[in-house]
Amino acid sequence: MIAKYILFGLLTILIVEARKPKGCISIKSVTKPIQHAEGPHWDSHKQLLYYVDTFKADALKWDPKTNEVTMFHIDDRNSIGIIVPIKGDPKGFVAGADRIVYQIKWDGKENNTAKYEEILMVDESKPNNQFNDGKADAKGRLWIGTLTRNPDQSVKDNGGELFVITDKKLLKDNQQVNYTSISNGLAWSKNNKHFYYIDSAKRNVVIYEFDLEKGVLGESRVLFDLAKYPDIPTSGIPDGMTIDSDDNIWVAIYGGGCILHVHGQTGELLLKLDLPVTYVTSLAFGGPNLDILYATTSRMRLTEAQIPSQPLAGTVLAITNLGVKGLPANEFEADEWKKQSC
Ligand SMILES: *[C@@H]1O[C@H](CO)[C@@H](O)[C@H](O)[C@H]1NC(C)=O
Ligand SMILES: *[C@@H]1O[C@H](CO)[C@@H](O)[C@H](O)[C@H]1NC(C)=O
Repeated sequence: MIAKYILFGLLTILIVEARKPKGCISIKSVTKPIQHAEGPHWDSHKQLLYYVDTFKADALKWDPKTNEVTMFHIDDRNSIGIIVPIKGDPKGFVAGADRIVYQIKWDGKENNTAKYEEILMVDESKPNNQFNDGKADAKGRLWIGTLTRNPDQSVKDNGGELFVITDKKLLKDNQQVNYTSISNGLAWSKNNKHFYYIDSAKRNVVIYEFDLEKGVLGESRVLFDLAKYPDIPTSGIPDGMTIDSDDNIWVAIYGGGCILHVHGQTGELLLKLDLPVTYVTSLAFGGPNLDILYATTSRMRLTEAQIPSQPLAGTVLAITNLGVKGLPANEFEADEWKKQSC
């Protein structure tokens, strides 16, 4: 009888082992929760992760070697979209907070020791606009989008734009996409011939032809449409995204509790990975081999009663064993900004 049970146990173990995918995907949280973690940027030179707490107007830095988090708050602002290092300037960053682009100097060692300077304002005629997601392209231009925040925190349709910022003046008519509702995730293909873009309200990912030399977008088509996936709740919207070295995209589904791996040319859904939090905001590959997928998450929309069932909401999750690698993130490049001693 006992022998039978032992045999049964062994068989079960063997079957389970055989079914396991090669190298099990592991998901663990690496930071303490904050309200709304967003905009992850992996710094390959310093091996650090930068991200923001959007509605606290805080920028944060997490060091995986010490596990320490440091931060700085931008005074007088209601929100921050992103923080991106300036190329060749170890203490330099560009950030978008409310409608304002900032130049920042911060050594990252201690809290609230950053110096920052307002450089320019976008959407001058739209006081309720604020920056959302943004990234530098391979030539160091900053692509950053806006949205219109209603007083009740909802978002007004078609109130935003996607801007390209290259120097201290706001280039006239530099909106690359007009009438966006929630300008969000961005990514470029490895050869920089394509640009991927998410307006969350449209629940899709659009692929554009991209001219890297000129920094302009060409023809576009919808690559991936969430409406075709009824098992993803309609409350789930695409938020931030990143791309892997196979030119396939990874999309955070805010309100959908998952991330999606999508073929970069056909739009085929390659993988849906459920996460232990409902509100996943964005993604960035990091780690020494760029094979750890960091996911920022939020607890802002959870009620007090819901939080105990999602203790990891608001943390940064590290997802490993996905079998893919990312591409190094571009940095902002502007000689004019480096000279400035702010
Ligand atoms: C710095 O800020 C981080 C993030 O809020 C916090 O976890 C940490 O304890 C702070 N460090 C100090 C020395 O107060
Ligand atoms: C967006 O609008 C501006 C004018 O406000 C215009 O100059 C620009 O060409 C438009 N961009 C696109 C991509 O249509």
